[in-house]
Amino acid sequence: MMAKLHNVRIGEESFSARSGQVVLDAALLGGVDLPHDCRAGRCGACVARVKQGITLGGEGREPGMIHACQARVFSDLSLEVEALPPVVRVKGSVTALADLAEDIVEVTIALERPFVMYPGQYCKLAFRGHPARAFSPTGSLLSLADDGHIRFHIKQVRGGRVTPRIGETIRQRHSVVVEGPYGHAFLRPGLKKRLVLVGSGTGFAPVWSLATAALRDDPARRIVLIAASRKIAGFYMAPALELLAGRSNVQIVATIEELIRDHRLVSAGDPLDHLPALTGEDIVHACGAPALVNAVADVACAAGAQFHADAFEANAPPSQGWLDRARGWLKAG
Ligand code: FES
Repeated sequence: MMAKLHNVRIGEESFSARSGQVVLDAALLGGVDLPHDCRAGRCGACVARVKQGITLGGEGREPGMIHACQARVFSDLSLEVEALPPVVRVKGSVTALADLAEDIVEVTIALERPFVMYPGQYCKLAFRGHPARAFSPTGSLLSLADDGHIRFHIKQVRGGRVTPRIGETIRQRHSVVVEGPYGHAFLRPGLKKRLVLVGSGTGFAPVWSLATAALRDDPARRIVLIAASRKIAGFYMAPALELLAGRSNVQIVATIEELIRDHRLVSAGDPLDHLPALTGEDIVHACGAPALVNAVADVACAAGAQFHADAFEANAPPSQGWLDRARGWLKAG
């Protein structure tokens, strides 16, 4: 017997779904590009509000909210999803290169025109003559202000096709095409919940972008910022963390895995060990090594916290899962 077909409407678009079909699968098959990322009910990118109709499974924490990658269609549906800035391509050029650590460089880019991007989203950079790679824009490590420049923390991966060229063939005035924004792990404005931000390695870039934007929005916002590095030599975040020192609403945790024992300012070992006790009142962002992001996701979801995984991409298209992209990013050069 043929499964019953239902009509699903999202804004101005609609598609058909078989009874019992996963909402996201039906949307993509129907040519509707519903935002998504992990496809595992974790990242929250596919969250939608059910305005009308019945779904089963994939319930979000708020009444009426579903994870479209998990929820199944059981009637005609009317859904609402969060609006995102449009993806655009803008030309620019490299204006500054600065070594942040032995294999991490800060690249500052001037764009021909600004484009709308939310803190925490990422872009693809195509330096002239090189394939595109995904990186997260961030602010200055020396200021909480938004000075209008777009910066990236780029790990130079040995053997890579792009990142080792920075400082060699890619120098000041090198032209670049910036495409974006991508990703759903962005700062939702106006929220008051505690932010727990975990960034390892250059995963600090989006974490810093989120922290500074949140504090510009609300200087009293409670934030726990965990900055992690595997090696001492890679711990480039210190100047930024110093800017937040002394704020009673901001708790800073610096961790370096290879330290044997805790130092007065820096903790040794796994950043996961330094996560605060989470509750449903927290919003957690994690970015960096896939194993860490995955582990933070488990803890956050078990606590009922809202969780966002950052989305880095190397060669993969934006529709690929965040974990796959993060893997690509770690391998990418
Ligand atoms: S929660 Fe559905 S795509 Fe991540």
